[in-house]
Amino acid sequence: MDGNGRWATAHGYSRSAGHEAGLRAARNIVEAAVREGVGTLTLYAFSSDNWKRPGAEVTALMRLFRRALLGEAKRCLDNGVRLTILGRRDRLPSSLRHTVEQVEALTASGANMHLRVAVDYSARDAVLRAASALRGDSVSREAFGELVARVDNDRLPARDVDLVVRTGGEQRLSDFLLWECAYAELKFVSKMWPDFTADDLAEALADFRGRNRRFGLAPEQVAS
Ligand code: IPE
Ligand code: MG
Repeated sequence: MDGNGRWATAHGYSRSAGHEAGLRAARNIVEAAVREGVGTLTLYAFSSDNWKRPGAEVTALMRLFRRALLGEAKRCLDNGVRLTILGRRDRLPSSLRHTVEQVEALTASGANMHLRVAVDYSARDAVLRAASALRGDSVSREAFGELVARVDNDRLPARDVDLVVRTGGEQRLSDFLLWECAYAELKFVSKMWPDFTADDLAEALADFRGRNRRFGLAPEQVAS
């Protein structure tokens, strides 16, 4: 969800107003993703490196996350969306941590789509913590993937990412799900996140469906 700040500046608003607009976009995209039949949607809301932003912006974002969770919980429940937070939790404000736990418990039975919101998330840190947990043992890719998921409180079975959509014009992963994105299809969109619509999501999914995924095989092996 990149581009809230630039969107706000372009419209003469504060960065906070940009993040508010980003929340409205996220609400639309979650509902659109349910309609599109997406199984798991992960929204990258706050990376571990985002703590380095000015304190006022960080504080405003933490407040916005809490308000958004409280405000969206019922909508998730009504849409059958299971909402979980991906990332480490020990550095979140305790009020936010409690809200996260409440909303996760409330929406736990949601079966239409799993919505993961990545907050204080760093893929590199996740891989490092998973590797430390091994204490030198060697394990399969699958078992390591489960460890990577578990260190960030992802209680569901680990899954590879199929498609990454990044808005805001930058073409990089920025420490997002590095292990899980080994064979992800990448889609970069120049629109800022607040301008990203259900039609843009549909277009990204149509593009994805047209991709030829080979996972290292030769083309004729995939065709057969
Ligand atoms: C994305 O918007 C949301 C967060 C990282 C919290 P940005 O805040 O990165 O917006 P730009 O990139 O400055 O426009
Ligand atoms: Mg940005």
